[in-house]
Amino acid sequence: MTNQSPGLFIAFEGGDGAGKSTQTARLAEALESRGLTVLRTREPGGTPIGEKLRSLVLDHGHGHIDAHTEALIFAASRAAHASQVIRPALAQGQIVLTDRYIDSSVAYQGAGRDLGTDAVRSLNEWATSGLQPDLTVLLDVDPVDGRVRRTAGDAAEDRLESEADDFHTRIREAFLELAASRPAAYLVLPAHLPVTELAARILTRVDGLLASSGRGAA
Ligand code: TYD
Repeated sequence: MTNQSPGLFIAFEGGDGAGKSTQTARLAEALESRGLTVLRTREPGGTPIGEKLRSLVLDHGHGHIDAHTEALIFAASRAAHASQVIRPALAQGQIVLTDRYIDSSVAYQGAGRDLGTDAVRSLNEWATSGLQPDLTVLLDVDPVDGRVRRTAGDAAEDRLESEADDFHTRIREAFLELAASRPAAYLVLPAHLPVTELAARILTRVDGLLASSGRGAA
């Protein structure tokens, strides 16, 4: 089920170091400057329980976490996020921008951890009662570039980021397959384009969505 509410639901996806948070922030600013109400959120996290689950699953300090447990923790965080944050905001007509959603689990746990993309998708459709974005912006990043970008400035890598390059290559391929299977629901952009060009192309696509939903620019 896609989003049936008055709001607009946009997910940003991509490998680590793709620049999703920068682009989420740029889009939020552009829409807010027109007087639109935007909710910027992220996964894992977005709710108090989700933030706890985030540190459980990303910190190195909890020892080994098996792949099924990992997938269930991400899905649990997402269930809370969808029901407590995203659906209520959409029902109020807000524009919800999330940094990661179901596709991240399909790519990282389904393909990266080899749990199977169909199984992980079904788990997450159940967890969110089928709530799907109106648009997914996929910032496609080469895994080697992604590692260089995210470790710039000596930022520490979390449990998932520190996986080997072939893990990140499987994830990249899975994201691209998801986009290819439903092209109308995706905007795929090479992450290495200049920040301003990416922001402009994303805004153009979102403007199209706003216009077709009758909301237009304020
Ligand atoms: P993210 O918050 O995007 O990383 P950061 O803010 O550190 O740049 O995501 C954290 C990590 O969690 C990232 O490596 C991707 C991973 N992840 C999954 O494996 N499955 C999921 O369902 C989600 C939402 C994230």
